[in-house]
Amino acid sequence: MASGEGSNFEAVVDACRQGQLPADVVQLVVNRADCGAVERAKRLGIPTVLLDHTTIPSREDLDGRIVSCFEASGVDLVVMAGWMRIVTQVLIDAYPQRLINIHPSLLPSFRGARAIEQALRAQVRISGCTAHLVELEVDAGPILVQAAVPVLGEDSAETLAERIHQQEHRILPLAVLVAAERLGLLAEQPQG
Ligand code: GRF
Repeated sequence: MASGEGSNFEAVVDACRQGQLPADVVQLVVNRADCGAVERAKRLGIPTVLLDHTTIPSREDLDGRIVSCFEASGVDLVVMAGWMRIVTQVLIDAYPQRLINIHPSLLPSFRGARAIEQALRAQVRISGCTAHLVELEVDAGPILVQAAVPVLGEDSAETLAERIHQQEHRILPLAVLVAAERLGLLAEQPQG
């Protein structure tokens, strides 16, 4: 699931294709037709479904539509790779322990929107990113993997975001692997 540039989405696809993650990305759901993730999916040959939240009456309805898409594609595990909508129990209940989010701070610091700006304002010297399981409370579920990065004196939101992004691309596939391992999904892989 992606709403933005889609660089984390691509990192997960790459990890699968390079054999670091024994999985297939079978589908992308986006909520904005013009987001960068759509172009990436096209280039990578991943089928994309657009669910424009502005045309869907409630958050629950949106999540219900997402669940229907994923059920139709036989999805085992769901990654929110820059999904900028608050999710509801409808999605969480459909994928217990199987819904992963990536957030650009060392949680539990700087939850919510504009985490990178929050970290700069707080003048922390170390920030980073967190991949975690999703619960109803925003950016609060059990942590799977974190990575730290230094915050430099001359950093802008852009330069810090770039440094954090590089680590996100590393830890998000790792978090999928950790979650899948805990669920025993890897054992279900056909032996080859
Ligand atoms: C990432 O920084 C992620 O932590 C946040 O949204 C951003 C998505 O970036 N939730 P991208 O679209 O994957 O490039």
